Amino acid sequence: MRKSTIHIDRHFTVSEVDPRIYGSFIEHLGRAVYGGIYQPGSKASDEEGYRTDTLELIKNAEVPVVRYPGGNFVSDYHWEDGVGPVEKRPRRVDPAWHTIETNAFGLNEFMKWTKLADTKAMMSVNLGTRGPEEAKDLIEYCNVPGGTYLSDLRKSHGVSEPHDIKLWCLGNEIDGPWQMGHKTAYEYARVASEAGRLMKMVDPSIELVACGSSNSGMPTFGYWEDTVLSEAYDVVDYLSLHQYYGNESDDTPDFLANSARMDDFISRTVALCDAVQAKLKSNKKINLSFDEWNVWYHSKEQDEKLPWWVTAPHQLEDIYNLEDALLVGSMLITLLRHADRVKIACLAQLVNVIAPIMTDDDTAWAQTIYYPYALTSRMGRGTVLNTLVKSDSYETSFGDVPYLDAVVIDDEEHDTLTLFAVNKDLTDCNEVSVDLRQYEDYQIKQCITVTGDDLKAVNTAENAAIKPVELKDVSLCDGYLKAVLPSKSWNVIKLQKVDKRL
Ligand code: AHR
Repeated sequence: MRKSTIHIDRHFTVSEVDPRIYGSFIEHLGRAVYGGIYQPGSKASDEEGYRTDTLELIKNAEVPVVRYPGGNFVSDYHWEDGVGPVEKRPRRVDPAWHTIETNAFGLNEFMKWTKLADTKAMMSVNLGTRGPEEAKDLIEYCNVPGGTYLSDLRKSHGVSEPHDIKLWCLGNEIDGPWQMGHKTAYEYARVASEAGRLMKMVDPSIELVACGSSNSGMPTFGYWEDTVLSEAYDVVDYLSLHQYYGNESDDTPDFLANSARMDDFISRTVALCDAVQAKLKSNKKINLSFDEWNVWYHSKEQDEKLPWWVTAPHQLEDIYNLEDALLVGSMLITLLRHADRVKIACLAQLVNVIAPIMTDDDTAWAQTIYYPYALTSRMGRGTVLNTLVKSDSYETSFGDVPYLDAVVIDDEEHDTLTLFAVNKDLTDCNEVSVDLRQYEDYQIKQCITVTGDDLKAVNTAENAAIKPVELKDVSLCDGYLKAVLPSKSWNVIKLQKVDKRL
């Protein structure tokens, strides 16, 4: 058995967690919308066609914000196609995913869904094939109470109150040559700056996310961030990052090291933001929106064979296994460790498309990755403590990576202290000791593990092979928490302050 230690000090904090780091993403892609969150006629849907089974799983994960409507899809989207009488809405080709978009579901259906899901919208504007004028129009339609052409048009569509959407993305992955309306850094910087300025002139209360790099390996990484921020610094509030990982070479230890790569990507992007701040002599900080992150590779080969111009095909339907759940849990720890600068993050995506939730026509079920995601979202609120982990390491293509990945969150409002930990060792347990002498009135409240013998085990509609179970070997003695974490496991241990008055 390996041994590790964790050291915290209640005064050495990183930052309060912005709940929006537990966001997710619904794109008009594959069966995310049609057959995922919306399916009139399904026995799992309500009378308006919203899937109540997926809603339950989403509410259970307490997802604070959902990005919409894309993704690559948004870069040729005409939001006007998706509002007004359904029978008049046009069917369009979606060149991004080679499908047909019926527009049966659009902006107002999505906003109604956000209310049912207890979440908020993070809306993207099309800065691929369109520009500032359409972005401004969309803000008028959504956020102006009434008395103008587009706000009254919204009212005529049955939505009397403004949607009041506060968080907006200035396009999607415009640095990528695959993007419809792809632009150079300077071309994007100008259009984002002017679109953002117009949008804020209509509604100054909104926050804006500018596109950063589509992944850390982009040849323009660094130059892109510098150019975009140098031009649009005053108008934008966040810079985006996207990254997906895969285990194509079936090397699990190396695959699990990807959270360290994500950590590095975040640190470099923070440095780029701060360099522009220094250059501009600005007092404003640009924070990060990691608005697409996940494991994505299982479905890629199969997707290459899909026929074109069909509606809602089975696309990007990765079936996740235990090792994917471990990496997702570890990436959430990485996001938490950067809570001082990462204020928004979206697990991409939410239903059916590279998603924690899958459906067939009548049922919905949780994939393996759902559990670390939902449990971290529910239990990972409060203040992140600077968590020093002393653990053995192993060699990977990214350098030495610790077997134990961990972070501690202190929630003073609810008097709880929560440890999230992943043991990446594939054979040995890890006995973890946490010095909690500053938390003498606390007792163990809940101990959960997600683990298993088979790294490739997956969940199906009929069988939840991977699900949370009680973590048994945990004790608190003389101010030290001791826990034996199984090999290949994601874990959460919650402590609660004892109310001495009882
Ligand atoms: O989430 C799937 C796709 O990945 C998104 O549409 C795009 O933004 C990214 O490349």
